[in-house]
Amino acid sequence: MPARLLRLGVNIDHVATIRNARGGLVPDPLRAARIAAEAGADGITAHLREDRRHISDHDIVRLSREIDLPLNLEMAATDEMLAIALQHRPHAACIVPERREERTTEGGLDAAGQRAHLAPFVAALGEAGVRVSLFIEPDPRQIEAAVALGAPVVELHTGTYCEVQGEARARELDRLREAARLGTEAGLEIHAGHGLAYDTVGPVAAIPMIRELNIGHFLVGEAIFVGLDASIRRMRALMDEARPKAHPGAPSDRPAARHS
Ligand code: PXP
Repeated sequence: MPARLLRLGVNIDHVATIRNARGGLVPDPLRAARIAAEAGADGITAHLREDRRHISDHDIVRLSREIDLPLNLEMAATDEMLAIALQHRPHAACIVPERREERTTEGGLDAAGQRAHLAPFVAALGEAGVRVSLFIEPDPRQIEAAVALGAPVVELHTGTYCEVQGEARARELDRLREAARLGTEAGLEIHAGHGLAYDTVGPVAAIPMIRELNIGHFLVGEAIFVGLDASIRRMRALMDEARPKAHPGAPSDRPAARHS
């Protein structure tokens, strides 16, 4: 398979949201993860929230054991989540801010203001061999804080870029580009995500420093109309259009799958 310059992590949380609306076992997020793998995803992303509103502890056990793609565990910086991450040792963990009353992750982590709180989480995950990422706003202060914390990866929050229109969107795109440039110069690997859809993904995918996009809600919603396989394939095609694939034979940057 040709090397991917831009990986796609598919977030399957909202398959679990639909399952949990009725209780029971269907639709199964693991089945979604398998379809995502077939459709060209490079990784599976799942957010184990404190209130377990979608992904459950048992989902994380099954995703860790039964899926070949690398798992990116989104987690709040709490002792409970750290213990779970250290137990399963996913390929990656993305530390996100979390408030119980929010509908989804609203805004990035204040890495600059919370350095002392975050430092032991970044260190413990890194020592366990988990690739740590901090979900931050595209803001130079947050990039500096991520570097100071020793996190190897940042995920830039694209939510505002997706929500606004016109000139405001162009300004947000500039902020994302500038943060990606600053972070890359400082040695960070740059990811991006939140709120991305077919009509917003192209300009973000075209930012050459970005190595991974994590996309969920839109893909699962679109799957109601066209199927999950088709929604992921179309997203992958739009990403590839914006950023052509590396030539065959180039060293692959697809991380090795891990089983715990
Ligand atoms: N990245 C992070 C850090 C997130 O918290 C989320 C939402 O769980 C996503 C990406 C995916 O966002 P969306 O579901 O809006 O595509």
